Amino acid sequence: MTESAILPEDLVLLLGTRPRRGVRAWLYRGVAEAVRDGRLPPGLRLPSSRAVAAALGVARGPVSEALELLAAEGYLITRDRSGSRVAPRAESVRTERPEVALRPPPSPGTPDPALFPWASWLRAMRVGSVRLRPDDLGYGDPRGLPVLRERVAELLRLTRGAVVEPDRVVIISGVAQGLTLLATVLRRRGAGPIGLEDPGSPGARDSLRSLGAEVIAVPTDGDGLDIDGCDEEPGAVLVTPAHQYPLGVPMAPHRRRRLLDWAAGRLVIEDDYDADLRYDGLPIGVLQAMAPDRVALLGSVSKVLAPGMRLGWLVPPPHLYDELVAAKRNADLGTSVFDQAALAEFIGSGEYQRQVRRLRQVYGERRQALVTALQDRFAVESDSYAAGLHLVIRLPSLAAEARAMAYLAAAGLRAQTLSSCYFGDGAPGIVLGAALPIAPAVVAGLAAAAA
Ligand SMILES: Cc1ncc(COP(=O)(O)O)c(C=O)c1O
Repeated sequence: MTESAILPEDLVLLLGTRPRRGVRAWLYRGVAEAVRDGRLPPGLRLPSSRAVAAALGVARGPVSEALELLAAEGYLITRDRSGSRVAPRAESVRTERPEVALRPPPSPGTPDPALFPWASWLRAMRVGSVRLRPDDLGYGDPRGLPVLRERVAELLRLTRGAVVEPDRVVIISGVAQGLTLLATVLRRRGAGPIGLEDPGSPGARDSLRSLGAEVIAVPTDGDGLDIDGCDEEPGAVLVTPAHQYPLGVPMAPHRRRRLLDWAAGRLVIEDDYDADLRYDGLPIGVLQAMAPDRVALLGSVSKVLAPGMRLGWLVPPPHLYDELVAAKRNADLGTSVFDQAALAEFIGSGEYQRQVRRLRQVYGERRQALVTALQDRFAVESDSYAAGLHLVIRLPSLAAEARAMAYLAAAGLRAQTLSSCYFGDGAPGIVLGAALPIAPAVVAGLAAAAA
C-alpha cells in the first residue's frame, strides 16, 4: 500500500466539474468510483474535509458527510481528524470483468427475434397481470401459478402427448434450470454419473460439469442414443428423443423401448427443446408418455418465443416430485408471477399455438431455401433440418471445420463446430443456426472458406 497523499486541488481535478447542487452525492460517487477503478490506490491519504471543502468552494458539512459515508461503506479508513486514507482493496471491490462468463454461449438454436409476437405478448402481459390476486404477489407455491400449470399441462397433453396433470408440473426458468435441479437431487441421492448423448449439447455438458456432476458419454448414432453402448453404467441419462441435438435424428422405436426398460429404478431426463417446430409432419410425441414414472420431461419457450424469457417446465416422475419442488424453492423461491401470468394467458388465448403455426410456416420456407442452396456444395444431414432451428453440415476435415467456423463468426452467424459436440475426437462439421435468413453469397463464401 502507498503512504502517499493527494492534494486537495488534485482531488478536485480528478473528480471533474462540480455540480451546483448535490455536492454530497457527487463527491461520494466520484470518490467511490475512483477507489473501485484504482485511480485512488489503497493507502493513499486524502485531505481533511475542511481542505476539500475549501478547494471546492463549498460548505464543510456535505463534504464531511460524503467522507463519513465512504468510510462507513469501507472505501476509506478514517485515521484522525486531519483526514482518511483509501482502504485496502477487498476482492469484491475488484473491477476486472470475467469476460468468459459474461459472453453468451454460441447457441445455433436461437430464434429470429424479428418473429417475436410483440403485440400478442404485450396483451397477454396486461391481461395476465390484471388477473393476479393480491396473494399471488407474495412468496407463493414454488411449483408456479396454478393457472399456468393448468395451461402447460393441457398444452403438453395436446401437442406432445405427455401424461401430465397440473399438480405434476413445476414451472422453471428454462431447461437449464431443470437440469440444475435434477443434477442437484440426483447427486444428493448418490445416483451415479449422468449419461449424455455423444455427440450432444456442449452447453448441457458444461453446465452439468460446472455443478460438479460426473458425466459420461453414451454413444449416439442415426437411431439416436444407444444405452447398451455405454462403457460405464450411468444412474440417469439426458436425451433429446424427438430431434437429437445436434444430429437431428428421431430416436428409433427399438432404442426408445430399450431405454425405458433400462430406466427401471433409474431416470431418463427428456430434453424436449424444439419438437414443436417440426416441418415434415406431426411432431414426434414425448418418451415420457410411455413411462411417466421413469422420465423427467423438460421444455421451455426458448424456441417458440425467446430464450431471454427464461420460462419453462419440468414434469418429474412422482418419486422425485417433492424433492424437486424443494430444490426449486431453495434455488429461487419460485419464478416471477408476472411472467407466469402472461404465459398462462398467452397459451390460454390460443396465441402460443398460433405462433407455433406461424413459425412452422416461416422457418419451413426459410430452411427449404437454405437447404437447397447448401445441398449443391455440402453434405447436409437430412434429419437435422426436419425440425428445430439448426441444421448440420458435414465437412471433410477439422481444418475445413476451423476455416468454415472462422468465416461464419466473421459473418456474424450463429454456429458451433460439430466436433465440439463430441466427448472425444469428433466428426468435423458445422451446426448452423438456420432461424435467420442466410444470403446465397454467404453460402458461397462458406463453401470457399471450407474448400
Ligand atoms: C439441446 C438444447 N436443450 C435445451 C435448450 C434450451 O434451454 P433453455 O430452455 O434453458 O433456454 C437448448 C437451447 O439452445 C438446446 O440447444
